[in-house]
Amino acid sequence: SSNESAAGIAHVYRGTFVHATYHTAVEILEDRLLGVDTEGKIAFIGSGKEVDRLSQKWGFEAVTQLGQHEFFMPGMVDTHIHASQYSYAGTALDMPLLQWLNMYTFPVEACYKDLEFARNVYTHVVKRTLRNGTTTACYFATIHTDASLLLGQIANDFGQRALVGKVCMDTNNFIPHYKETPEESEGETNRFIGELLKKYPLVRPVVTPRFAPSCSAALLGHLGEIAQNNDLHIQSHISETKEEVNLVKELFPDYDSYTDVYHRHNLLTDKTVLAHGCHLTDGELKLFRETGASIAHCPNSNISLCSGMLDVRRVLNHKVKLGLGTDVAGGYSPSMLDAVRRTLDTSKALTIQDTQYHTLTFEEVFRLATLGGSQALSLDENTGNFEVGKDFDALRVNTDAAGGPIDLINHEEGPKVLLEKFLNLGDDRNIVEVYVAGKRVVPFVEGP
Ligand code: GUN
Ligand code: FE
Repeated sequence: SSNESAAGIAHVYRGTFVHATYHTAVEILEDRLLGVDTEGKIAFIGSGKEVDRLSQKWGFEAVTQLGQHEFFMPGMVDTHIHASQYSYAGTALDMPLLQWLNMYTFPVEACYKDLEFARNVYTHVVKRTLRNGTTTACYFATIHTDASLLLGQIANDFGQRALVGKVCMDTNNFIPHYKETPEESEGETNRFIGELLKKYPLVRPVVTPRFAPSCSAALLGHLGEIAQNNDLHIQSHISETKEEVNLVKELFPDYDSYTDVYHRHNLLTDKTVLAHGCHLTDGELKLFRETGASIAHCPNSNISLCSGMLDVRRVLNHKVKLGLGTDVAGGYSPSMLDAVRRTLDTSKALTIQDTQYHTLTFEEVFRLATLGGSQALSLDENTGNFEVGKDFDALRVNTDAAGGPIDLINHEEGPKVLLEKFLNLGDDRNIVEVYVAGKRVVPFVEGP
């Protein structure tokens, strides 16, 4: 036969596929046949009408047919989530960021010294995010190397694609027992990377300075060097609140800007993702553009902690890569559907303030939640949409799921309307199956 792919075909699906491309925010592919090979990659996408020719060519027999109110969309990418804060998600949103960190966050994160505590929370967060359609998550863990390694193992065990960061911080004036020495932080980061790198196919380590106020210049320098020498991802926070920006000015008086603090320690690369960025200047956005660093937009958190409203349109106009993040537990929801809605809400709040504002469309936000996130994490060579050769990371959405939150009154609605209804009204009851690299990971396979 004339198969282009060396691997055989494992599964073939027929129905509607909805995804974003580099040119189009929402592309609807109706009555397509999509083949996934035994390595989990998309082997072909063809017309449903050509099923006979394609089955001859590729040598498959069984085809899974989607229902009338179903479609496949790419899995969603959470570009910023604190797995360690999931235990108090939905609470403790009554303080500004810097107080919130001291009063709630640091005391909880200190508990991850206890591996059984960590295992319990990390299992819940991986399962919850997968069920909500997060096929790729970029996680912050805590300063504890062994618990951070455990998070990587749990993501692998449940089949989630993950970037996992052991948090680095050598400054903590409020809770002195929740910090490291610069030597510990550097050494443990090296141990973390050494143990996690290449251990699991879908899990990678991320160099994770918490944010400039928690790190000495020496530590930032060491971490920049580690990332550079190992060609690793980097994540941190930036310009979330004005108070924080002012603090960084005080702590790092010799730098041009908050962004310059990271830049001068080699922490701005095309594999860097920085959360929030609500208060960045044009000059700082230019530096993001030049270095290829990206922003994780975390609208629930920005609103819940009264941090600011990121002007996403301005970021996109600067041609800076941007994905969406839940930022649990500053953001109270672990669901990327919530991040989609809060992104639209924030854009509409900016429109209320300025009626000339160019409001984001749901189509654009759909792209940010999928392909945009993959680009922001520099994973779009393998994920983010339905292109032949990419991994099949996908959600099977049934907008008419029994007992679900969507009533389809006009049952003849087309796929674009079904997508819009799912994004605005849907929940995990509509996500009937989740696939990562071709493997079905939701519903969960029951353990022994
Ligand atoms: N800045 C530094 N650490 C954190 C954190 O844990 N959450 C949020 N939202 N911002 C931070
Ligand atoms: Fe965060």
